[in-house]
Amino acid sequence: MNVETLRWHDGRLEMIDQRVLPARFEYLSYDSAASVAHGIRAMVVRGAPAIGCAAAYGVALEARRLEKTAPDVFRPGMEKGFETLALSRPTAVNLFWALKRMRQAWESMGSTTQTAVAERLVQEAHEIHAEDIRINRAMGGYGAALLADGARVLTHCNAGALATAGWGTALGVIRSAVAAGKKISVVADETRPFLQGARLTAWEMVQEKIPVTLISDNMAGHLMAHGEVDAVIVGTDRVAANGDVANKIGTYMVAVLARRHDIPFYVACPLSTIDSSIASGADIPIEERAPEEVTGFRECQWAAQGVQVRNPAFDVTPADLVTALITEQGVIPAPDREKIAALFA
Ligand code: MRU
Repeated sequence: MNVETLRWHDGRLEMIDQRVLPARFEYLSYDSAASVAHGIRAMVVRGAPAIGCAAAYGVALEARRLEKTAPDVFRPGMEKGFETLALSRPTAVNLFWALKRMRQAWESMGSTTQTAVAERLVQEAHEIHAEDIRINRAMGGYGAALLADGARVLTHCNAGALATAGWGTALGVIRSAVAAGKKISVVADETRPFLQGARLTAWEMVQEKIPVTLISDNMAGHLMAHGEVDAVIVGTDRVAANGDVANKIGTYMVAVLARRHDIPFYVACPLSTIDSSIASGADIPIEERAPEEVTGFRECQWAAQGVQVRNPAFDVTPADLVTALITEQGVIPAPDREKIAALFA
């Protein structure tokens, strides 16, 4: 299956509207940094690598939008674009990684025309996009070797083609194992409150006829206790220098359960998701989202009016619960500060 989460069409960015999947499959079109930032904030596009790609295209679109303006309009306009995109979501480090890379591409050009800058930035965004697919496939190859034929793999949230430029990180490992001829079945956590598992992971697997069983999040322990899960694979939004892993809320719970039941807990993690500037998971900014996501879903509100709500969108799994990181450079068992530093040496 070739899900094009983001695509460049006629000088505009088109993104699948992930808020309405699987009921509807439709693209929305974007032409500026502000509109892309809005799409990221509203969760039209989500998943760390996909957010990074979208932000890169947001910068490129802004340069195209402003290319014919005076220099004293172009530069502040671009800076505003970078700033708006940087404020769209706080946890996934791929967003900041992509913005930094776009800024370097711009600065590396020295003095040249604004049209040349715009062209270069579109090209850089295309490169980030294409690279992401290559990286996912490389991670998939390394990760697939960890899964036995017949493995039943639990995943949380959606770390699939929809969360990336294509193929996926955690689901990319599953896709690669299936492509290598292994019989793999997936247990998809529903992933309250935004239902990325029920709506997106289940949809991706059904499209591809990879056997998938949907469970609500509170069923994972029961299945593990009954020997129905052989491995857990999740994606990540940011890995600290010591190997602590931020991912979708509920991941920590799954990791604790996996340890209790002696089930390997793998994290598929492109190097762009590692934030070496952050010493431990305690310093990773955790997004807090709207209470309405917890008190109901879309038009249906089921909780009492006026109830107090917490809605942290991510949690941190300490490194010692991680069996291995799966990266595009290979598998890193029992990740720690030294092994992570060595990846960038
Ligand atoms: O809030 P979301 O849907 O953007 O959260 C996504 C996740 O937590 C994913 O697991 C993570 O970004 C890895 S995606 C390859």
